[in-house]
Amino acid sequence: MKQTTDFIKMKQQNEKITMVTAYDFPTAKLVEKVGTDLILVGDSLGMVVLGYDSTVPVTLNDMIHHGKAVKRGASHTFIVIDMPFMTYHLSKEETLKAATRLLQETGAHAVKVEGAGEVITMIEALTNAGVPVMAHLGLLPQSAGVLGGYKVQAKTAEQGKQLIADAKACQQAGAFAVVLECIPQEITEQVTNAIEIPTIGIGAGVQADGQVLVYHDLVGYGDHRLPKFVKKFANASDEMEQGLNKYIEEVRNGTFPNYDYSFSMKEEERIALYG
Ligand code: KIV
Ligand code: NA
Repeated sequence: MKQTTDFIKMKQQNEKITMVTAYDFPTAKLVEKVGTDLILVGDSLGMVVLGYDSTVPVTLNDMIHHGKAVKRGASHTFIVIDMPFMTYHLSKEETLKAATRLLQETGAHAVKVEGAGEVITMIEALTNAGVPVMAHLGLLPQSAGVLGGYKVQAKTAEQGKQLIADAKACQQAGAFAVVLECIPQEITEQVTNAIEIPTIGIGAGVQADGQVLVYHDLVGYGDHRLPKFVKKFANASDEMEQGLNKYIEEVRNGTFPNYDYSFSMKEEERIALYG
């Protein structure tokens, strides 16, 4: 299993880092099987699995429930788990308590928090207490209400410079990596060159040290709207729909279950039964 220091080494050696989200046991198994470097138990859980329209309703207990399943499916992969909305803002104490629950109850290895500013002190407190932290800058889904939706961030040079300063502050506070979401690739390039810790991009261009995508988006599972930056690498929903349609049809026309899928009694028992 790769560790935080391995991800920094990968950056130094120009080796791309792969990260995929997972929220349950079979997905975690599959994501581990293909050799993904890190698994993210993302709070995107709220949208792609629980049917909410943002990540805001996701609770600490939701994250723990799903994080445990992921850990059971991927016990040999570095697992990062999102700290959900408002669990790392109220005080350092609340933040440390929430992170303790996440790591102790799920077996995940690190937490991820969104934003800089006030959050920098929380990254520092967590790191000092022994919790590896992945930072997250650019589009912050938990703050979509404040940002006015899910839009490209840091489009101006000034905002870009602020983002670079924020990334440095995250590194300074002890973060081992930083997710860059939905920003121009020029900013990704500059951030990536400005810090020693790896950048993991999503909608941030190829210049990042690694990439992350939401599992459901990349395999094409679900019928939610996909952002421009998502490439659908498979059409899982189509495959599943075809299977379901065949099942319904065969049940309705009586061709399933046929002899191959049924159990029969031994001859003498059948005679005893029918007389
Ligand atoms: O929750 C999530 O899936 C994420 C990734 C998009 C980085 O935070
Ligand atoms: Na998230």
